[in-house]
Amino acid sequence: MSSTHTPESPQQSANQQWGGRFSEGVDAFVQAFTASVDFDQRLYRHDIAGSVAHATMLAEVGVLTVAERDQILDGLAQVKAEIESGQFEWSVPLEDVHMNVEARLTAIVGAVGKKLHTGRSRNDQVATDIRLWLRDEVDVIVSEMRRLQQGLLDLAEREASSIMPGFTHLQVAQPVTFGHHMLAWFENVERDVQRMLDLRKRINVMPLGSAALAGTTYPIDRTITAELLGFDAVSENSLDGVSDRDFAIELCAAASICMVHLSRFSEELVLWTSAQFDFIDLPDRFCTGSSIMPQKKNPDVPELVRGKSGRVVGALMGLITLMKGQPLAYNKDNQEDKEPLFDTVDTLQGSLRAFADMMPAVTVKHDNCRKAALQGYSTATDLADYLVRKGLPFRDSHEVVGKSVAYGIEQGKDLSEMTLAELQQFDERIEQDVFDVLTLEGSVSARNHFGGTAPAQVLEAVKRARGRIA
Ligand code: ARG
Repeated sequence: MSSTHTPESPQQSANQQWGGRFSEGVDAFVQAFTASVDFDQRLYRHDIAGSVAHATMLAEVGVLTVAERDQILDGLAQVKAEIESGQFEWSVPLEDVHMNVEARLTAIVGAVGKKLHTGRSRNDQVATDIRLWLRDEVDVIVSEMRRLQQGLLDLAEREASSIMPGFTHLQVAQPVTFGHHMLAWFENVERDVQRMLDLRKRINVMPLGSAALAGTTYPIDRTITAELLGFDAVSENSLDGVSDRDFAIELCAAASICMVHLSRFSEELVLWTSAQFDFIDLPDRFCTGSSIMPQKKNPDVPELVRGKSGRVVGALMGLITLMKGQPLAYNKDNQEDKEPLFDTVDTLQGSLRAFADMMPAVTVKHDNCRKAALQGYSTATDLADYLVRKGLPFRDSHEVVGKSVAYGIEQGKDLSEMTLAELQQFDERIEQDVFDVLTLEGSVSARNHFGGTAPAQVLEAVKRARGRIA
């Protein structure tokens, strides 16, 4: 896209689109201050699509002649081609993408171009453009989420029986399978997908036809434009149509939740690649080095995604606060909706893409994960459950195992490393078969129910998950 043209002299100029009632031009600084074209030119494709549908509808209801419509459609096609080839000169005095496109259209096709804006306002135009744009972006977001989910499922399947420590309070709690852990993140992303699909329904409602705020005196047929633009519904109320930005807030809220998920997952990857954990390896292409410490390999991608979650949550705060004091209907405040929304979409798509690309490249260091799971008496609950099966009430067995662990800490031994005689000092019900449950494999395999960490359950869950996202 070509650069934006700003007038060099501080001269004041009257706007050709609305200058009629003004006796002096707008101050040059005010003009630049109030303009949005630098960022909203990003909406050009959807702005033109909206205009094509509007002109088509106007001809259908007899407000434009077929010849006028065709001239407008040809002109719009040329404007689009000029923008896409980089020839288009964006003008700040023309404020925004809408007036830039319309002015160029009129320059190309002549006076008939001025008829395009019949029965329409920039207020319903911009609300329509953002919805059309965001609808496309949500589809990209969902497809990146699906790609990430595929990666998680492949990893879960591959590592269905790999043992790692499960944590609570970041203390080793109970052994889990690596596959089970990946499936937990799959579920997080699945809720993110469902949120996106749900809010997409509220994006896909057409405000066009609301005009400035009250509707229009022309005999418009909004069902024609809605159908041409692929909207599922037409907004019921014109005041609401031009002023509603809930859908943008919802997008930022859903994006914030997803970024928080990715941030938490990032934190795990950062921990797991550290020398202290050393559970996984990320390939070099997702890491960078240090300019001073030659030995360093830093997990930049997860770190950056963790950091980027901040700007998305910030955008949500900005957008929701932007709406707070606004009376109905359209207010210029709304022009501030675009930058946080654009940044949110870019950041979320980038983060999802990085994660989706990274998943197939994660390699698990099985020995280290296993060793870590052996630390911290991770099978203590299994011993407690064992004693319950032998007839001890759970609270009493909790006490017995607590004492065994205290003994283990004193002796520097895991429960599985004690002799039967050592274990029996705490309860004579303990027999040789206790060692089946004190091993890591015994521990995870015993959690063999829907939603549990047993390898067999992980494989079943992967199969179900593949069906759910198919
Ligand atoms: N650039 C404006 C926006 O982004 C378009 C609508 C302006 N309407 C108006 N009457 N000033 O919201």
